[in-house]
Amino acid sequence: MSENGSAPHLRSAEWFGKRDRDGFIHRSWMRAEGFAPDVFDGRPVIGICNSWSELTSCNVHLRRVAESVKRGVWEAGGWPLEFPTISLGETYMRPTTMLFRNLMSMDVEESIRANPIDGVVLLSGCDKTTPAQLMGAASVDLPAIMVTGGPMLNGKYRGGDIGSGTMVWQFSEEVRGGKKTWDDFFEAEAGQSRSNGHCMTMGTASTMASMAEALGIAPTGNAAIPAVDSRRYALAQLSGRRIVEMVREDLRMSKILTRDAFENAIRVNAAIGGSTNAVVHLLAIAGRVGVPLTLEDFDRLGHDLPLLVDLQPSGRFLMEDFYYAGGVPAVVRELGDLIHRDALTVGGRTIGEMTAEAPCWNREVIRPFDAPVKEHAGIAVLRGNLAPGGAVIKPSAATPSLLVHRGRALAFESIEDFKARIDDPDLEVDETSVLVLKGAGPRGYPGMPETGNLPLPPKLLAKGVTDMVRISDARMSGTAYGTVVLHTSPEAAAGGPLALVQTGDVIELDVPNRRLDLIVNEAELDRRRAAWRPAPPAFERGYAKLYTEHVLGAERGADFDFLVGNSGSKVAREMH
Ligand code: FES
Repeated sequence: MSENGSAPHLRSAEWFGKRDRDGFIHRSWMRAEGFAPDVFDGRPVIGICNSWSELTSCNVHLRRVAESVKRGVWEAGGWPLEFPTISLGETYMRPTTMLFRNLMSMDVEESIRANPIDGVVLLSGCDKTTPAQLMGAASVDLPAIMVTGGPMLNGKYRGGDIGSGTMVWQFSEEVRGGKKTWDDFFEAEAGQSRSNGHCMTMGTASTMASMAEALGIAPTGNAAIPAVDSRRYALAQLSGRRIVEMVREDLRMSKILTRDAFENAIRVNAAIGGSTNAVVHLLAIAGRVGVPLTLEDFDRLGHDLPLLVDLQPSGRFLMEDFYYAGGVPAVVRELGDLIHRDALTVGGRTIGEMTAEAPCWNREVIRPFDAPVKEHAGIAVLRGNLAPGGAVIKPSAATPSLLVHRGRALAFESIEDFKARIDDPDLEVDETSVLVLKGAGPRGYPGMPETGNLPLPPKLLAKGVTDMVRISDARMSGTAYGTVVLHTSPEAAAGGPLALVQTGDVIELDVPNRRLDLIVNEAELDRRRAAWRPAPPAFERGYAKLYTEHVLGAERGADFDFLVGNSGSKVAREMH
């Protein structure tokens, strides 16, 4: 029932309930799919928005998940209709999937609004598919549930567990440093990815699935269930039943995605050791629902929280272990009063009610609040003359001794410049140097790729150096680690101070005091600023042109300026 107690008007009735020529057309073409005539009896139409694709390995099982959702929708008296959108395969798309996140969000938004849909179940998995679906659906604001595809089973290699992504960075550094052979490296490929599902470290996919759960838009308990565990399919079926009820209750996304929900997500992200990518994605989703959220919120609400979950890349275990230990509900319960317990979830009850009895079965994986894996695990937001618009760092993934550091910059104008020079044995670099990468922001690359965790120079790896301060306007894979300053804003391509850094400049990083400064006098900076020229437009046509002309900075979630906000579900004009 809607707020005034009456059953909400179903927008699908504007297509299927008409006694006229258009009604004939709408019903007749659906009959071509072989549906019985009683699907037109006024039941809620549930769109199943599927990001399945064989080019998105992490989402390849979502057709099967959709079948379970459909079962639940039919049981509850709804009519499920599955539809595809573009999908974003993190490991394949060039130059970077982030370039296409906003495009996918537009596809999701327009597909939902344009069609006879009363409520929607969003099926996502791989990194960008989750925020893209939430952004797009939030701009329509129908009742919605997100069911993510779940993580892969733990990777296995030579008797031990290996995590997706995290292991790749570590092994490739070991091969470059001469500690492993290429044959060792190749052997690990099959063992790492041995089932359906998304990366099973606390990378971006697991982080965003956990964020969806913490926001209340995914069912409580959803994030950690492995993709191949039968309980994921049971949860999908229950979600199918529930979305039909949500349509009848008129429980729209905007009633769930409140300021409190975002604050809960920020705190859960700190406690699980979530990816820095959550910052840009949550900012973008909040922008769609009109919740004011800023970079500072991440620091203020999350920086001081302890890391409770011992998962790679910050810790030892993997998502399968996290599920058996209790998953996100156990973490929410552990956070106690730090969580807005009255925030509503898609389950129809508050997150406090849903997690009040959540058990923890393994205190090695999910620690008590007073005996955490690490103190102060959240994301720190840095400001200073090198990042007047802000920059982020994940201290829990950094080397503690480097969190306060003063060093000489080694500047690279682009990732291609970096790759061309970093292996040079004559490169003037030592472990105190600060590697600076420009031109990898949203507009500059374009698409803000995950190149922020720059590989270290081989000559330093050979000496046993394992970490250095690295600064860029890029993002970093959620499965990576190191003393890496990211999302530096304004980005170099927009004329930010990062563009002015030259090799030999001194850079000062002071994470406890949230500072990032270029120690160059103002007169010299003014001279460099006056001499700086933006690069000529790299794209004359197509989506990349649209992207570079309209993308906002990282501090605004790298959404498009014209996509911020929402347009609701009304379509102004009839089809003709
Ligand atoms: Fe898809 Fe990691 S590559 S989640």
